[in-house]
Amino acid sequence: MTKLKTLAALLATSAALGNTAFAADTELNLYTARHYQTDEALYSNFTTRTGIRINRIEGKEEELLERIRNEGANSPADVFITVDAARLAAADQYGLFATVDSPTLKSAIPAHLRTDRWFAFSTRARVIVYNKLDVKADQVRNYEDLAKPDMKGKVCTRSGSHAYNMSLGSALIQHNGAAKTEEWARGLVANFARAPKGGDTDQIKAVGAGECGVALVNSYYLARMLKSTKPEDQKTVDRIGIVWPNQSSFGTHINISGGGMLKTAPHKEAAVKFLEYLASPEAQDYFANGNNEWPVVAGVKIANRGLDAMGKFKADTLPVGKLADTVIEAQKIYDRAGFR
Ligand SMILES: [Fe+2]
Repeated sequence: MTKLKTLAALLATSAALGNTAFAADTELNLYTARHYQTDEALYSNFTTRTGIRINRIEGKEEELLERIRNEGANSPADVFITVDAARLAAADQYGLFATVDSPTLKSAIPAHLRTDRWFAFSTRARVIVYNKLDVKADQVRNYEDLAKPDMKGKVCTRSGSHAYNMSLGSALIQHNGAAKTEEWARGLVANFARAPKGGDTDQIKAVGAGECGVALVNSYYLARMLKSTKPEDQKTVDRIGIVWPNQSSFGTHINISGGGMLKTAPHKEAAVKFLEYLASPEAQDYFANGNNEWPVVAGVKIANRGLDAMGKFKADTLPVGKLADTVIEAQKIYDRAGFR
């Protein structure tokens, strides 16, 4: 064979195999419910490393999920990133995620923080904050304590229908059983200082102001407030105490930010590369630190004053993939208990 013929044969083979074998993906369509300033650096760094451009579609969690479902087989989405394990599991139950068999992801992410199809890239904890003048830490060491009679008129939280509270309820069902969780939800509602309203930061402020004695909040809102230089935030911080719930039982409930590759992804190679990139130490720093969350990859250290100030704790090791199993049950229990 002449040199020219060899080249022609090679080109023919290349054409027959199509883009997948030879032409690498040059772009990635990312659907994300995360929108933090540091995510800019996260994405541009990926493009610098791989030459793959990221087209970002941002939206609210449920809207993005609906959009991907409506787009169906024609969806341009390659990767879907959102917060809350139950939401990711819901996407998975709709059959949206593809199996990603990546040794890199398997070795980087602890087993309880991934499934075969979606992966956690950072964690956050649901903690208890209390007003130091009103409540003693020893009264609220556990989630269960919030339903006890001595917390009457003191408990504040955001809506029971919010994903963060539903995931907590789901975890409680798996640890304590449905009957005990329903009893807990009823006790919690009976102890409300006010009807659920606002986000977690509103609960922290209300505890600081003394309107609430105790509240359930996600760690990253707290870390943000601990780092704040605003005088009113510092005043709030001075007035509140933080408890890592359930340290002598199953550990503090944690939830995640995470994502997976869509089954219909047009750029599968780029999608896997991106997921693996998110588990790299550099990306872990941007991804977790940017929202005051903890990295999932062991050994990755981030410098975050807010998180450092909160100290260490024992986290619940319930697999995130299992959290979704009892979310519907949690919602029904909350409905019956009037936790809306
Ligand atoms: Fe949040």
